Amino acid sequence: MQITVSYSESFIKKEELEVYIDKVNHVHNQLHSKEHYDKMPLGWIDLPIKKNFEEIERIEKAADRLRDCSQAFISIGIGGSYLGSRAAIEMFPSDSPEIYFAGNNISGTYLKSIVDSIKDKDFSICVISKSGTTLETALAFRVFREILEKKYGKSEAKNRIIAVTDGRKGTLLEIAKKEGYEIFEIPMNIGGRYSVLTPAALVTMAVAGIDIKKVLKGAEEAYHAYNNPNIYQNDCYKYSVLRNILYKKGKIIETLVNYEPFMEYFGKWWQQLFGESEGKEGKGIFPAVLQFSTDLHSMGQYLQEGTKNVFETIIKINNPADDVTIPYIEDDSDGLNYLADKTFNHINKVAYEGAMKAHEEGGTPTISIEIPFIDEHSFGHLVYFMKKACAASGYLLGINPFDQPGVELYKKNIYRLLNR
Ligand code: PA5
Repeated sequence: MQITVSYSESFIKKEELEVYIDKVNHVHNQLHSKEHYDKMPLGWIDLPIKKNFEEIERIEKAADRLRDCSQAFISIGIGGSYLGSRAAIEMFPSDSPEIYFAGNNISGTYLKSIVDSIKDKDFSICVISKSGTTLETALAFRVFREILEKKYGKSEAKNRIIAVTDGRKGTLLEIAKKEGYEIFEIPMNIGGRYSVLTPAALVTMAVAGIDIKKVLKGAEEAYHAYNNPNIYQNDCYKYSVLRNILYKKGKIIETLVNYEPFMEYFGKWWQQLFGESEGKEGKGIFPAVLQFSTDLHSMGQYLQEGTKNVFETIIKINNPADDVTIPYIEDDSDGLNYLADKTFNHINKVAYEGAMKAHEEGGTPTISIEIPFIDEHSFGHLVYFMKKACAASGYLLGINPFDQPGVELYKKNIYRLLNR
């Protein structure tokens, strides 16, 4: 599995990349130096080669237990404790058990609809919060924990609850220990949005029947593939460099374009990763997500003729999993027989080429990220690719890509306003 990054040379000259050779070398050394590793939350960087096999087995065992006793499963978390697993599950959906996501907003209507949906079903939950104090998560957990305890009694309910949190401190850890829930740890040196390959997302993925060993294998492959400081041999760093070059040219908005609807939540995860990592100190590219060809009939107009401060990063999956052939119709009443025997995937590729050419002509630069296919392995690979590209981008931009002071301020304010 290999990811290939290409770009429109009419917007970026080869010489412009050369300026970054030394800078990327420096960033690579920082990311991989022992001294830096000990100071920063960089635990995710070598996680794929430091697998905790015992923990993986325990996750699979717990997931099997919950699958066996549940028609529905509720994954409760927000931000980095939510989007990674949802991205995977949208790609590899499961009907058994039905998966619900709660704690990712404060809408009573949304919550009530889940409460109603699981009312007559056997269900279990996983509550995920690194800090253990996030309000959205804690409130939803309180609601479903109460329903579980009323339905099954406290002692059976505890077998249906898994807590994923920091292993040293936090309200959730204290509750989980007191109540005797099974606990999985989010490593201390891995921040929320970098935690997809930890129990933060792996537990929910495993309950949904996703082969987490394949996901982790894909990440391991990516660790080796992007461990080279040379930007001409490392497409992950190349992507970081290209976006920084475009940012310096006033392209302050990046839209991640998907041509496959099942990538929508991957896009949202990517958006959180880059937005929360880079948007600080008055700097950063604003990440937006678009779904083509759907949004070509709306936002395509902006990309073609709007303010010239946007660039597109297009995820191109070369061999999608499935396809439909366009049928031949005798009377050709809709005039589409010229496409008979062609496939939807073929036409999707033509749409990609047509839109890219048009937008470039309209002054919107494009970067293409080509992936041969999507499966659990390539999902793990792509996640690692993006995490490393994001960390490198943040360092090139001159900010700390691992903190989120703005998010912390919102959390503090909401507690203050609610008179905690
Ligand atoms: O990336 C981050 O750190 C945040 O998006 C967090 O994941 C999010 O705020 C949820 O935090 P927690 O897992 O502590 O509940």
